[in-house]
Amino acid sequence: MIIFAGLGLYDENDMTLKTLKFAKKVDKIYAEFYTSVLTGTTIEKIEEVLGRKIHVLSRKDVEYEGYKIIEEAKDKDVMFLTAGDPMVATTHIDLVIEAKKREVEVLIINAPSIYSAVGITGLQLYKFGKTTSIVFPEENYFPETPYNVIKENLERGLHTLCLLDIRIEENEKRFMTANEGLKILLELENRKKENVLSEETKVVVVARLGSLKPKLVYGKIKDLINYDFGEPLHSIIIPGKLHFMEEEALKYLCENI
Ligand SMILES: C[S@@+](CC[C@H](N)C(=O)[O-])C[C@H]1O[C@@H](n2cnc3c(N)ncnc32)[C@H](O)[C@@H]1O
Repeated sequence: MIIFAGLGLYDENDMTLKTLKFAKKVDKIYAEFYTSVLTGTTIEKIEEVLGRKIHVLSRKDVEYEGYKIIEEAKDKDVMFLTAGDPMVATTHIDLVIEAKKREVEVLIINAPSIYSAVGITGLQLYKFGKTTSIVFPEENYFPETPYNVIKENLERGLHTLCLLDIRIEENEKRFMTANEGLKILLELENRKKENVLSEETKVVVVARLGSLKPKLVYGKIKDLINYDFGEPLHSIIIPGKLHFMEEEALKYLCENI
């Protein structure tokens, strides 16, 4: 059997008891931390809570050799841990499908995810449109997708959750800050000039969700672009049309700058 389980968003206390119980009895535990990470803890602390050793997999291990773990799960109970919810990442869904194809029993244990945690702002979850990811630009690579997604969502009055790039390779560890993300959005406006965003646009920045002291800030891009949101991880929300209750929620639940 293969068990896909989430660790939640921030520290070693975010996983469910169900995950903990299964972790105690499986034969082997794997985890990947390149799609997302828990910045309030360490692998050692998670291992301590589980009372088990975790084998951390690289992107290559998961994306090109994930089938090996699935094969192992044919005659062993194997757990695959991820940050957030295990099914909020295409890579993991791929593995689940592969396991089903290979007739391996699959169990999925849900966990807190960025997708539900943004509800902490008081913005209504059913009013979010398509999510977008803002990635680190590279030479000759400056994707316009976030701009187009925000435009489409705004046209429909919907909020946009912007996830920010994470680079975790063998010798690199970089988390995009909300400041960098906002700069990229303004640069996209500068290039596309379709009046989707401006320095006056009001956005919400959330940092370290899942912690007991998350940072939730609502304000104009020009006032947030150099604001210090503290340690990663950060996300940006571009609100769509606000219901009066959402306006009230943003006023009382977020820091208003
Ligand atoms: C691929 S997504 C996370 C998917 C994960 N499986 C989940 O369910 O949350 C990774 C992005 O989510 C956002 N994120 C994740 N955890 C966060 C947190 N605790 N606070 C703020 N943003 C977070 C960041 O923008 C990060 O780059």
